[in-house]
Amino acid sequence: MKVLVVGGGAREHALCWKLRQSPLLTELYCAPGNPGIAALADRVPLAPEEVQRLADFAGELRIDLTVVGPELPLTLGIADEFANRGLPLFGPTQRAAEIEGSKVFAKQFMERHGIPTAPSEVVHDAAAARAAAGRFGYPVVLKADGLAAGKGVIIVQDDAGLAAAVQALFEERQFGTSADRVLVEAFLPGEEVSFMALCDGERVLPLATARDYKRIGDGDTGPNTGGMGAHSPSGGLSAEAGAVVVETILRPAVAGLAAEGRPFVGVLYAGLMLTPEGPRVLEFNARFGDPEAQVVLLRLEDDLLPILAAGAAGRFDARRLSFRREVAVCVVLASPGYPGRPVQGEPIGGLDRAAALPGVEIFHAGTAWAREGADGELVSAGGRVLSVCALDPGLSGALKKAYAAAAEIDWPGKVYRHDIGRRLLDQVSLGGS
Ligand code: AMP
Ligand code: GLY
Repeated sequence: MKVLVVGGGAREHALCWKLRQSPLLTELYCAPGNPGIAALADRVPLAPEEVQRLADFAGELRIDLTVVGPELPLTLGIADEFANRGLPLFGPTQRAAEIEGSKVFAKQFMERHGIPTAPSEVVHDAAAARAAAGRFGYPVVLKADGLAAGKGVIIVQDDAGLAAAVQALFEERQFGTSADRVLVEAFLPGEEVSFMALCDGERVLPLATARDYKRIGDGDTGPNTGGMGAHSPSGGLSAEAGAVVVETILRPAVAGLAAEGRPFVGVLYAGLMLTPEGPRVLEFNARFGDPEAQVVLLRLEDDLLPILAAGAAGRFDARRLSFRREVAVCVVLASPGYPGRPVQGEPIGGLDRAAALPGVEIFHAGTAWAREGADGELVSAGGRVLSVCALDPGLSGALKKAYAAAAEIDWPGKVYRHDIGRRLLDQVSLGGS
């Protein structure tokens, strides 16, 4: 089969790494890919949002399956465009992807279908936001409705924080039209878990759980990022609790979307807070998480290609997915300045040495060749630069491997968290779901 992966981050590198192992694969393309992906796939110089041109490419090359990594092309309707041209694609339509693209839609959808989530109000201006925040009390969460590259969620602790959030959202309009509508939401304390499932429009194949570390700094300090590290399993959710999530959240969501004429094909990702009252949905995403995909795909035993192809055709054959019992961890190496304005163009060495360590896989995100077209020196070229991942029978071993590999990478500017999985180490021995 000829496969096209859309995207160019570490998530897409992990997808290419996994798809490359399929005996069914004949040709692999990635648009636009990155230098790490270039070792596994032919790079196609098209950006993920060039939906028409991607469809032209897939049509001309008779691509058998397209897999979409990032949310932007999904919310722009890449699945609709491919469907109109009879081209198989694993990813939701524009209307189904609204579950990620609009937090207001997602919230009202959950309320319609009895899916547990935090209570909230929708507001359109600063005065209404202040009034709603007053009703909830501190801490309170303000969320821009539309996509904001993971930055449109502000947790407010006090009056000063509320004033700053309201100013950013409504006066400075830092999130543009994404903040035309804003959710003011009750703050839920607890542990977070990322729960993803492959969906074919009707059926749900749960993936292994993962835990994402969203803040830039150790001890969950500093601003939110796209994700600075992950491990799978998440550690916070027993197999029984996972089954409850599938029955009370994922299946009702997929059934609800189908019932509303928005059947969901692709990866449905529920960002959950495990509260004393049970799991609550913080957000839905319409795609693999990054870096959650890296750790979950490292543990997936099944051949991913026929499963995604069956999903794209609207019918999974598999009843469940199998995962290795080992623990997978990911430590993200980022550029100084991330998530604000990252410093780029710094030389990176030692990758081959790090990748040669046993049990280690390194996935590229923001890397580039120092001179385009020349396979020479690599430089940093983005906020998140590398996903340093490792697999081991236990969490402590996996962390040792990943951090040893991170230390081998010869890049003085690297910024990373030193506490991925640390708190769990003392609590439980990970393994299983
Ligand atoms: P979201 O993009 O909605 O997942 O929000 C980003 C992050 O903000 C989440 O991963 C949580 O850490 C935090 N967050 C969002 N909503 C809430 C909430 N209602 N209570 C507590 N934390 C939240
Ligand atoms: N790591 C969180 C996300 O992909 O949205």
